[in-house]
This record gives sequence, structure tokens and C-alpha cells, in this order.
Amino acid sequence: MKIGVVAESTPGETRVAATPATVAKLIDLGYDVAVESGAGEKASFLDEGYAEAGATVASADEVWGRDIVLKINAPTSEEIGRLADGSYLISMLAPGLNPDLVDELAAKPITVLAMDAVPRISRAQSLDVLSSMANIAGYRAVVEAAHTFGRFFTGQVTAAGKVPPATVLVAGAGVAGLAAIGAASSLGAVVRAMDPRPEVADQVKSIGGEFIEVDVESEMGSDGYAKETTDEYNRRAAEIYSEQAAEVDIIITTALIPGKPAPRLVTAADVASMKPGSVIVDMAAAQGGNVEGSKPGEVVVTDNDVTIIGYTDLAGRLPTVASQLYGTNVVNLMKLLTPEKDGQVVLDLEDVVQRGMTVVREGENLWPPPPVSVSAAPTKPMPAVKEKEPVVEKQPMTQERRFTLIGIGVLALFLINAYAPDPLPQHFTVLVLAVIIGYYVIGNVHHALHTPLMSVTNAISGIIVVGAVLQVVGDDPATRILSFVAILLASINIFGGFAVTRRMLSMFSKG
Ligand code: NAI
Repeated sequence: MKIGVVAESTPGETRVAATPATVAKLIDLGYDVAVESGAGEKASFLDEGYAEAGATVASADEVWGRDIVLKINAPTSEEIGRLADGSYLISMLAPGLNPDLVDELAAKPITVLAMDAVPRISRAQSLDVLSSMANIAGYRAVVEAAHTFGRFFTGQVTAAGKVPPATVLVAGAGVAGLAAIGAASSLGAVVRAMDPRPEVADQVKSIGGEFIEVDVESEMGSDGYAKETTDEYNRRAAEIYSEQAAEVDIIITTALIPGKPAPRLVTAADVASMKPGSVIVDMAAAQGGNVEGSKPGEVVVTDNDVTIIGYTDLAGRLPTVASQLYGTNVVNLMKLLTPEKDGQVVLDLEDVVQRGMTVVREGENLWPPPPVSVSAAPTKPMPAVKEKEPVVEKQPMTQERRFTLIGIGVLALFLINAYAPDPLPQHFTVLVLAVIIGYYVIGNVHHALHTPLMSVTNAISGIIVVGAVLQVVGDDPATRILSFVAILLASINIFGGFAVTRRMLSMFSKG
């Protein structure tokens, strides 16, 4: 079948539905791909790149008339008119919010798949455009805030004085919020986050944020997404937002409730309490805004010099990566739709992912799809824990036993020193002292530090190797065997220690 990648007509749109890299993958699936001339220009993908990847660069009429049309934004009425009968349209549509558009599409004998209606189950994550775009938008929100903010994000101690780190509050720790937390903490800011879903606390901490818990229980939807929070929750959260607003330098809000206007989290009074020069990025501005006073697509500067950024095109402000990720999501969808890799679409409505995305099939309106229980839903509470089996406590050694053992040890040491031939007594004394000191030194090191301790024992092993190498050339076969064993064991310790240290270091290195 023939795929057409069209240029976007929405004003301000910078992205494109396929890049040279994704076009090559579509061709591998057996498709013939044509890209509208200039379609990728704003995302820095030139016609030559597409041609090199194996696509034809064609006119608008040619690409709109193809069997499958790939697009980013919902089509206009005029564009719908250009689609060939029996063709497929794959684009973002927000079908739940645009019933008229769905009706208009269903009036034509075409099949329409909405990239933004992917059911949120783990298997579908690779085609989830909402996630990939939210991730980019969260990152870009931090970049916008950093650009406007008049200070460093990271704290610095310089010859000219000490600069404290910026403090960032992220409201809503979903995909966008987590991306924002990661970006802000990697820039060195102190990051705090709030979300009514308590299970995100660990995710927040794992990427360097601090989770502020609202000590009131909140309800979760059966689909795993936040439901509207209770009045009690909102009251307590509002107090925390007011406290935080006066303290932090930057607020990034990402809170959304599917199918509802965005919850209002930061009031005008909170904004008024912020320090001059503070920045707010309201990522929910298009859905009504989390922040009082934010305007969709605009930057507002308040009387107390707080900048509220309400951009609604944050993902599009990184058009190259946004196009690449959107294009990869489309390739993953096409892989699903092309089981034989023969360039032929096979739409399987028994598959929840394909059913969820199919808005219109050959002129039949299939929206909305049956509900799917998503993987984001928290698992049911575990059944009550069984009463624990009584654990038999290890009895500490009694005083008498300890003294008897010490007595036997001292007696053995005395006998060896008195009767053993030279130089055994000295060596034996050194060995006993080494065992005792080693036992107490290592025994008192915390378990978590045992691996770094291996690096230190490398040095000791090194001395053992030197001693054993000196002995291994001796005449006595027993000494030679023992020296060989000592070299072998100490070398294993040294090389193992290096390998483990290397692995530990690579866990902390970037890239
Ligand atoms: P979203 O865009 O609908 O909401 C953003 C965040 O706002 C959510 O974390 C939500 O809990 C939070 N929020 C709602 N009301 C709030 C309030 N009053 N105050 C503060 N925060 C509030 O959600 P998103 O980012 O699309 O995903 C939410 C969850 O779904 C995440 O855990 C994510 O990992 C999961 N997910 C799973 C996918 C899959 O399995 N395919 C795909 C995408 C997301």
C-alpha cells in the first residue's frame, strides 16, 4: 500500500508525522512512502533526507490521494475532502472532545485511527503519542522556566559569592511531571512534587525529587488515572500550595483529570505571595489552567513580577525530537497493523489496542471504544498479611562460653609459642592478630558499604600477591603450592574488585 506523509496546515505547527529514519522503517514494512515537499522543514528534516531514506518527495495532491495518510493534527474539512475513498487516516484527533469531527470523518468511506486514543496499557506504550509528547513537553517546560528565570538552577560557590540552588515545585507527577522533575533536578535545582496518587512517591524520589504528601486520602479512578480530588484533599492541598508558593522559585503545573477541566491548584493570592522574578509554567493552560491568571499560549507577567507561561505547544518547541518520537510511535502502530510485513494493513478489531484507536471503520463511527482497564491502575490491596511465623531469636553467646573459648584460644597460642619451632610462633601470632583485627574492622562496616570495601581489600590482596610471588620460586613443594593458591585467590579478589567497582561507577555515569 502507499503511504503519504502530509505537511501540517495548523498555524504554528512545527512537527511532521515521519522523519527520514522512520520513513526507512515504513519502507522495510513493505510500504511505498511519499512525503509532501517541505513537510519536515520546520523540524529540520529536508526533502533530500527523505529521498535518501527511500521516499518520494511529492506534491500535496499526490500525498493526500494515497492509501494511508499520516498526519499530526486533526484534518480540516477541506483536508477530509481530499482523502481518497477506502483510505486510512492516522493522526491525532482528540475524538472524545470533537464529536462533530468524528461525524464528519464517518460521513466518508474511510478508516480513521486516532494516535491520541491509544489505550494506556503496557503493551501499547510504544505507540502512545500522549506519553511521548508529554515527556517532551515536561522537559521543555523546565527549559522555558530556566530561560525566563534570572538565576542558576544549581547552587554554586564562586569567588564572587555563594548562589543558592533554585527550588522547583512540580504539581502533578504523571508523564510530563516526571520529565520536568528529572530535567530540573539534573540541572541542579531542589525539586519538590505533589500528586494525589501516592504510588508516584517512589518514582519522584528515584529521579531526585522530594514528594510532598497531602495527608488526606484521595480517590483513584478504576482506569488508574486521578479522579477529581475530594474537597477535604483540595483544602489541605491548597494550604500546602500556599506555603510552597511563598517559598519556591519556580512552579510547573501538569495536573490533569481525563475528560474534566484541569484542577485549579494555584490561586491568584498564591501567585501574589511569590518572590519577584519567580516563574510559573502552567502546562494545563489549554485545559483551563492549573494556575489562576494563566492564559493559553501566552506569557503573563503579574504586578509582583511573576512570569506565568501558558504555552500550549511545548512539545512542538522541540520539533526535531517530537517528530522523531511521533514518527516512531507511528512506525510501531504500522508494525502492529502489518503482521506479514508485506505493506498490507490488516486491522484487527479484536485487539484492544487497535480497537481503542479506531474511531471510524469504512465510514462506520466506532467511537467511543469499550472501556479498557489500564495498567496504570494500582493493584488491589494485598489480602491481609498472614500472622507471622514466630522467628526463633538467635541466642547471644553466654559469658561463660565466651570466656572458655577465649581461654582455649590463649592456651593454644601459649602452647604454640612455647613449643613450636622457629619462625612459626611469630607468623602464627601475626596471623591470629590479623584475623581478629580484620574480623572487627569488616564486621563493623555497614552491609551497603561492603562492595566499596572490596576496592580497599584490593590493596591487601596486592600485598598478598607480592609476598606469594616471592615464595613461589622456593624449593619446598608445599610452599610453592600454597603460594600459587595465594596468588590465584588474591588475583581473583583484585580483578573481581575492579570489575565490581567499574560496574558501580558506570551506574552513576551518564550516557
Ligand atoms: P495525566 O496527564 O492525565 O495527569 C497528569 C498528572 O496530574 C497525573 O499524575 C495526575 O495524578 C495528576 N493530578 C490530577 N489531579 C491533580 C491534583 N488535584 N493535584 C496534583 N496533581 C493532580 O496523566 P499522565 O501523565 O498521562 O499519566 C498518568 C499515569 O498513567 C502515570 O502513572 C503514567 O505512568 C501512566 N501511564 C501509563 C501508560 C501505559 O501504561 N501505556 C501510558 C501513559 C501513562
